[in-house]
Amino acid sequence: MKVTTLVVPAAGLGTRVLPLTKNLAKEMLPIADRPAMHYAAKEAADSGITRMALVIARGKESIAHYFTRDLNLERELSTKGKTKELAAISEPAKFFDSVVSIYQDEQKGLGHAVLCAKSAVGNDETFAISLPDDVMMCEPPCLRQMINACEKYGADGAIALVSVPPGEAHRYGIVAGRELDGRTIQIDTLVEKPKPGEAPSNLAIMGRYIANPYLFECIEKTAPGAVGEIQVTDALQQFAKTKKLIGVRYEGTRLDAGDMTGYIKTQFILAAQNPVYRKIMEDILTNGVPRDNAA
Ligand code: G1P
Repeated sequence: MKVTTLVVPAAGLGTRVLPLTKNLAKEMLPIADRPAMHYAAKEAADSGITRMALVIARGKESIAHYFTRDLNLERELSTKGKTKELAAISEPAKFFDSVVSIYQDEQKGLGHAVLCAKSAVGNDETFAISLPDDVMMCEPPCLRQMINACEKYGADGAIALVSVPPGEAHRYGIVAGRELDGRTIQIDTLVEKPKPGEAPSNLAIMGRYIANPYLFECIEKTAPGAVGEIQVTDALQQFAKTKKLIGVRYEGTRLDAGDMTGYIKTQFILAAQNPVYRKIMEDILTNGVPRDNAA
């Protein structure tokens, strides 16, 4: 199965991490030493995806700029022999052959944001969707695991899944279906943000999806649902009626950088992956914050 395009809904206001997002796109907030968006893009590139369609709002153009070359800066760093920095700024421009931005003028929900990318995806290609709030630490990359599972089962689409405690189901899309193997289910039921006691299982949707363009038709027919918005989850319920939709319990860890405590935790975990930053963090946690001008 060839998956060429990654759709990234990135038009949100980032109200769950204010004031950081007062004048910065949420997707450009630093997580360890890279912007949040870097991780979702790298995962897609490492999964074999070659195009990215960013669905943005006015004022969020900086997300696309991060994935373009800055020839002046490249020349400057090259002249000064700053090879590490040069490699770091050049990397994101190499992830994709092309990056397009599409404006979502009105905030009508995740489903509506995905629909905005319809013409960028085209009519006959299976595509991927990533919600960059969910940072996936997976090997192979999460989207790759999902594409592999689609190939194995001849599926038309896939969703990344994780089991959550019953008390957390209301925060997610929840799915149910028939077990195919220990990691994969065929999905027949999807409910976005179920009310207490109404979740069909404990399997929650994490922000990674694969679908063929029939999903766009389903979204077009989907009325506003949970929180008054057009939901991808509701459109996928239509999709699953006639298409084979699987759920993949990926190998790895999902970090939720979408609210303030999750964002701080994600910072901590990703910084700790780097031995230099890890040492700094360990020193501080062991010895406390060093005092200037100690007597
Ligand atoms: C979105 C989806 C939801 C999914 C979640 C994963 O919700 O609508 O189905 O479980 O992402 O992060 P949001 O976090 O935008 O409320």
